[in-house]
Amino acid sequence: MSINDTADSGESYATLAQFQPPTAHKTQFTDALQRAVAKIEQLVPVFGLRNPRMGVEGTYSYEFCTEDEWVASFWTGQLWLAYSLTGDQRLKNSARARRGYFQRVLENPAWHDHDLGFLFLLSCVADYKLTGESDARAMALRAADFLAARWRQPMPFVMCWNPMKRDTPEFATRKTRTLNIDSLQGMSLLYWAHRETGQRSFVDIANMHNETGITHLIRDDFSSYHCYEFDPGTGKPIGGYTHQGLNDESCWSRGQSWAIHGLAQSYLNTGNRAFRDAAVGMADYISDKLPEDGVPLWDYDLPTDRHPYRDTSAGAVTAAGAYTLAQGIGGGAGAEKYTALADKILLGLVENYDIAGLEGAEGLLKEGAAFVDLGRADNMLPYGDYYYLEALMRAVGHTEFFW
Ligand code: GLY
Repeated sequence: MSINDTADSGESYATLAQFQPPTAHKTQFTDALQRAVAKIEQLVPVFGLRNPRMGVEGTYSYEFCTEDEWVASFWTGQLWLAYSLTGDQRLKNSARARRGYFQRVLENPAWHDHDLGFLFLLSCVADYKLTGESDARAMALRAADFLAARWRQPMPFVMCWNPMKRDTPEFATRKTRTLNIDSLQGMSLLYWAHRETGQRSFVDIANMHNETGITHLIRDDFSSYHCYEFDPGTGKPIGGYTHQGLNDESCWSRGQSWAIHGLAQSYLNTGNRAFRDAAVGMADYISDKLPEDGVPLWDYDLPTDRHPYRDTSAGAVTAAGAYTLAQGIGGGAGAEKYTALADKILLGLVENYDIAGLEGAEGLLKEGAAFVDLGRADNMLPYGDYYYLEALMRAVGHTEFFW
């Protein structure tokens, strides 16, 4: 889609921060939130210093991260959110005890990619926002420097992926010239770093990245490409493709959700109406494409002869993003419309996919689809759990997060 208006509206993050979405299901969401926090408390000694990676097939147990995993911060993020609700020092200590992992990320440039946003917002930014701890701030600022330094002129975005040994030579090259939709979440690290330091380049690079994403990743009908390739010599756009979706022209559900949440949050961070309008269009696009139970299939273009795997993580990210959008709109019919969309998805998750109350379950949500074509189609996912917790908190009126 094209961007017509990138003017700053002048609305500030602070004035937008007080907001109770007009949800019709506050009691049910409050109950689900209590169950989720109780589960997180129970899991602290079970996980110890391990970070969940993905649910083990056919169970409600997790396998755990080794090194260089993009998902390593989602449990830490849950610990910090639960701490913000309860003040339980055990949660804080367990979250902070993971700092060594994030220190190793900073010390290993080969591990740096767009996921620095997820990794440091939910660990060090969270710690600093909740406790004022200065080492956490310094680490998050270093991560923001590394993320901003991934701008490879003349391509108008920060480089998302790195080539890996396991990639084919063609894909390895393509990765170095690709903007992916997941990266729109990470721009909050740069907006945060700008607020902390006053360094304008952080906000300029984040705005450039978001504007390129809106122009090229979002199609005219507000569906999205997972990835978009550019010419590294000229910076000119080449074309869209998928990595985890059904096909190049389909709309991968989690990709759409990353953009809805990321752009809604970037609107809160900047007041830039083009970010809000893009998130609105993308939320409208999916609103009549949800199954009866409210929870998206893993790709919005899935044909009826394919197994209808849900992606509860896409549902959780979309619900949290739609509440964020309602907060950004601030009230009236718009806030009601995106609260109703978020409510529909979140209610579907609470009623059909919530396993927090199940004894022995090591997560909050079942039936996430990490990468269907690789057979990872029906698992607990730590990002599904994190965004489910965030969506429940937003539904009952919390507005302070780490983005
Ligand atoms: N960031 C990768 C994914 O959403 O699976």
